[in-house]
Amino acid sequence: MNGTTTLRDPLDIMVQLLSYEGKQNPYPLYEEMRAHGPLVDVGGAHVFVTGHAECAKALREPALLLSTDDAVQDQRLPGWREHASWRWLTRNMLFSNDPRHERLRRFFGNAFSAQRVVALREMVDRLSTDAVEHLAQAGADGGTVDLVGEFSFRYAIGVIGELLGIPPEDQPGMRADIGAITLALDPIGDLGVLVPGDQAMERFAEYFYALVARLRAAPGPDMTSGWIRAMGDGGEITEEELVANLMLLLVAATEAPMDLISNTVRLAVEHPDHHDGLRTDPEFTAGFVDESFRFDPAVQALNRVASRDFEFFGLPVAQGTPLTLLIAAGNRDPRRFTDPGVFDPTRRDNQPLTLSAGSHYCLGAALARMSVESMLPRLFDRLPGLALAKGASFRDQIVQRGHDRLPVTVK
Ligand code: HEM
Repeated sequence: MNGTTTLRDPLDIMVQLLSYEGKQNPYPLYEEMRAHGPLVDVGGAHVFVTGHAECAKALREPALLLSTDDAVQDQRLPGWREHASWRWLTRNMLFSNDPRHERLRRFFGNAFSAQRVVALREMVDRLSTDAVEHLAQAGADGGTVDLVGEFSFRYAIGVIGELLGIPPEDQPGMRADIGAITLALDPIGDLGVLVPGDQAMERFAEYFYALVARLRAAPGPDMTSGWIRAMGDGGEITEEELVANLMLLLVAATEAPMDLISNTVRLAVEHPDHHDGLRTDPEFTAGFVDESFRFDPAVQALNRVASRDFEFFGLPVAQGTPLTLLIAAGNRDPRRFTDPGVFDPTRRDNQPLTLSAGSHYCLGAALARMSVESMLPRLFDRLPGLALAKGASFRDQIVQRGHDRLPVTVK
């Protein structure tokens, strides 16, 4: 031994991160990447960002775009125009840059403001009570129940489904199609992997055009009816943009919250000393949710691209360079967090990167937090014996990471 350590090539680390095994536990691989520094420049062709401050700055940096206007997408993923998933995704607000982003965000954003979300509390409490009761019934015989299917998915889609006016009977069948669409966000080698997402997107487009027609004829108390009315009053969006963003809202507000719910429940079961706090102390519960956002985030990485030559923390970045912000690594940056590998719900000034920042800051942040904060006390009050069973696994996905199965028993 000569005392020197050889670092593995960043691209080798990425290859391992993209393997099924790497995705089951990516955190040691982020530490390997971090050993190269907060900014990892791969020959000027790609930059990986592992630092908290660097990710936070990148998300607010005007020279960095969210990457996917059509021209950038042509460079990043040639052939994407043949795929319905990406054709529709590029029409929603998340994959738009200004001025279209600003226009769409203004149109849809009001409905999810912190103030409007407070008014949804009663509805969210009702749905979380129903979800907990369903789980209790599903496991009443003492058998093993899959928490993801029987609780996290049902609850997440129940909330956004009611807000968008999707009838409850249509919701259970949507899980596979939502999952297929989120796969489009992972690094893609073979465009063939997009085909299930393409088919799912086409089914959803047809579904939402029909839903919009129905709600136009017979409006309800849901947000979609409100947006249809606003379009009639001269609101500046097209029917195609309405459908594209309804699909975004359904997918974004189901998959990531489903993962957050599963992760948070798993972390809670693993830390029984926190159950009293979760049952009785809303402030402790809010800290617990923040810490689970930080510790095991449902979104692990975000893509950006340089819109012009610029300097980033002293590193020259040329126009067109893609940057991968490893926000799950930033959430464990030891320069920002004491003992980052320790789950500590009492952390002060937590600020995980998981909900993004800057102009694309998660539109559903307040709703996502409220949904989990409503659920945790009800779950541990009703099911104090909730326990993990064998057989948990994570999906074969890295950008949007979460359990595909989380077996539990409830008594
Ligand atoms: C645990 C739950 C959630 C997580 C971790 C999450 C995460 C994120 C992240 C990381 C982004 C920004 C992506 C980027 O900057 O590249 C984002 C944007 C977005 N999220 Fe969420 N999200 C969650 C829940 C929700 C919910 C409940 C909704 C429902 C309204 C929602 C709707 C959106 C929308 C519409 C955008 C695009 C905003 C824009 O481009 O301006 N999300 N979310």
